[in-house]
Amino acid sequence: MSEKKKVVLAYSGGLDTSVIIKWLILQHQYEVIAVYADIGQTGDAQAIREKAYATGASKIYIEDLRKDLVDEFCLPALWAHAVYEDRYYLSAAISRPLIARALVDVAEKEGAQAVAHGSTGKGNDQVRFDVSVMALNPRLEIVAPLRDWEFGSRQQEIEYAKQHNIPIDITKDKPYSIDYNLWGACIECGVLEDPWLEPPEDIYMLTRAVAATPDEPRYIELAFEQGRPLSLDGKKLSLLDMVQELNRLGGEYGVGRSDMVENRLVGIKSREVYEAPAPTILHLAHAELEKLVLDKETIHFKRHLSQKYTQLIYDGLWFSPLREALDAFFAQIQPVVTGVIRLKLHKGSCMVVGRKSDNSLYDFSLATYDEQDAFDHKVGESFCKIWGLPLKVLAERDKRK
Ligand code: ARG
Repeated sequence: MSEKKKVVLAYSGGLDTSVIIKWLILQHQYEVIAVYADIGQTGDAQAIREKAYATGASKIYIEDLRKDLVDEFCLPALWAHAVYEDRYYLSAAISRPLIARALVDVAEKEGAQAVAHGSTGKGNDQVRFDVSVMALNPRLEIVAPLRDWEFGSRQQEIEYAKQHNIPIDITKDKPYSIDYNLWGACIECGVLEDPWLEPPEDIYMLTRAVAATPDEPRYIELAFEQGRPLSLDGKKLSLLDMVQELNRLGGEYGVGRSDMVENRLVGIKSREVYEAPAPTILHLAHAELEKLVLDKETIHFKRHLSQKYTQLIYDGLWFSPLREALDAFFAQIQPVVTGVIRLKLHKGSCMVVGRKSDNSLYDFSLATYDEQDAFDHKVGESFCKIWGLPLKVLAERDKRK
């Protein structure tokens, strides 16, 4: 008898990917190797392992990818100031290429023919998984059961799970679709599908409601060295610890919620609620420091590149030459981004209240209006004459008419 075909599945331990294991075995006679990517969601590794075996996986890899996520994906996204449609810090979008890379690595190691994921046919994530896998190993087949299978509802999946003794815990099930990692939480479906309804308070997992936050503001000092977050209130932290700590702190002060209708790549609009305390604080601080130490032309030009970069990531093109080239641009300007930003967290808001840097381009004697003013006011007149010359010529022509 020929050997069974092997497939490597991105497994979360939830209902969809549990049913997928069984379905791939029974309907397609695959041997299923599960990969659980730990990217900061709160899963119990031992329970996940047992569950995967109990469901029929031949092997499970539990990969701690938290450091890879922050160092290789969050930091570049921070440097790029990548925010989709002004509000989404791309937590799910940056995690997909990372998970895809883990799947491809395991598939190559195990000699598997295919990889599988649990994304649906109308979301962005299928695109990010498929395109990333194609870019990393074009020979691998991609199986996405949710695009193909017969189940039309969660209830039908639950029935199938019961029939086949798949261990599922529907008591833990929330009526939402939640995607969560160190860079934030994305929450959709259920009552959120009505874009007029205010999100119920129980959907939030990282942030407190403003009413439940401390009355007194909290000041923090965030230091950066060559663009990298270095310390919080003088205490040095790894990027992973920094992100975790800012999620905790921001969450306590209700910082980082957003509620939006966004444009998906596949053409539909969807309503999603996001929580991203750490990215909200880090983006604000990093951008503020760049304002202090970079020249105007670079700051203004960078905005165009940020937008393009964001679009590439959102649209699943992480493993593309343009993304790498843009990363090189953002990295090139980081060496001077060293300094400290002081922020105030209070009642859901995060505000920059102070900044300092040895590389500052802010010149007090040029900016001040007091007697120490060193700016030569007289040159202002000549400057205006030259700057306004084209408009003056134009206005004279129109007067002649
Ligand atoms: N809309 C976000 C994106 O396309 C998140 C997708 C996953 N959301 C979720 N709640 N499962 O990146």
